Amino acid sequence: MALIQRVFSGVQPTGNLHLGNYLGAIVNFVKLQESHSCIYCVVDMHAITVWQEPAELTRSIREVTSAFLASGIDPNKHIVFNQSQVAEHAELAWVFNCVARLGWLNRMTQFKEKAGKDRENASVGLYAYPNLMAADILVYRATHVPVGEDQKQHLELARDIAQKFNNDFGEQIRNNGFNDGLYFPQPEPLITGPATRVMSLRDGTKKMSKSDASDYSRINLSDDADTIAQKIRKAKTDPEPLPSEEKGLETRPEADNLVGIYAALAGRTKADVLKEFGGAQFSSFKNALVDVCVSRLSPITSEMKRLMADPGHVDSVLIDGANRARVIAAETMSKTKDIIGFIHKR
Ligand code: TYM
Repeated sequence: MALIQRVFSGVQPTGNLHLGNYLGAIVNFVKLQESHSCIYCVVDMHAITVWQEPAELTRSIREVTSAFLASGIDPNKHIVFNQSQVAEHAELAWVFNCVARLGWLNRMTQFKEKAGKDRENASVGLYAYPNLMAADILVYRATHVPVGEDQKQHLELARDIAQKFNNDFGEQIRNNGFNDGLYFPQPEPLITGPATRVMSLRDGTKKMSKSDASDYSRINLSDDADTIAQKIRKAKTDPEPLPSEEKGLETRPEADNLVGIYAALAGRTKADVLKEFGGAQFSSFKNALVDVCVSRLSPITSEMKRLMADPGHVDSVLIDGANRARVIAAETMSKTKDIIGFIHKR
């Protein structure tokens, strides 16, 4: 049985959707619609691995969905839904809890960062998080996963899980008609573009993140034009003018970051941006950056606002998407049960 080329990716509804999420992930989600069959998921079950205020969680699920739609994701041609509506994610995640090894999870740097020093007090869900992520992808037997750089390690784990499952159950997989023994594909990360790792505007060595205490560290998709301008003008820089070649950015993380953001927003390469701005002072480059940022983001921000004012519509998109996702997920889960040896209603 040939595998369909299918894209899956997810975004957590944990507030403060920012430029890193947009440039590192959502922009690529939009592009892939032209060439692939795509499933985009608001991963609310991942969100609750750390405490979420229930009303705020509901709002954030709608906000991420609105950002998907406002950015140009077509929920009719493709699938947009929230994870908790398709129970098969949790079901397959349990199977993967039994496939993945403790040693594999112990290596996950994101858990170490998020749990911090108080590891004993972290939820079990936070620890098992990458297994659920593998289930998200593999319950659709997705082949391609567009993500930012920070998700690379989780993707490698998903590949390891797919491979171990295929090895452990090789005979049953073949008996179920998969002659090549490849039931789960090895999902390929797609980490592309000039902004796979957008950094904080306050510190070019730290990732732009939803959880940074300083709102000046990031541009939120909900920021208005004045706020964007203020944040960019206050962004940390160094005293030198911009270099005219990319290698001049190597030891200048803040300059590198701003040039990368400009390139991604303008749909150009960093080298091309430096051809234009090499030798310029940051003050003039920042003005150009404000312009490109505002002109690119403000239509999205206003469309998001419009959608957020109509939660009934947003919820109906999610319900419709979940209904279509469930059909695919249920089929995978049913075959998975056959392979494992569970008794179930077909
Ligand atoms: P999350 O919600 O933290 O981020 C969503 C997407 O945004 C990317 N991203 C960035 N890209 C560039 N620069 C940044 N500063 C930046 N910050 C975030 C992330 O890489 C991601 O692509 N575990 C995932 C969600 C998830 C998932 C999945 C992704 C759950 N299941 C299955 C893919 C497939 C996460 O926490 O992303």
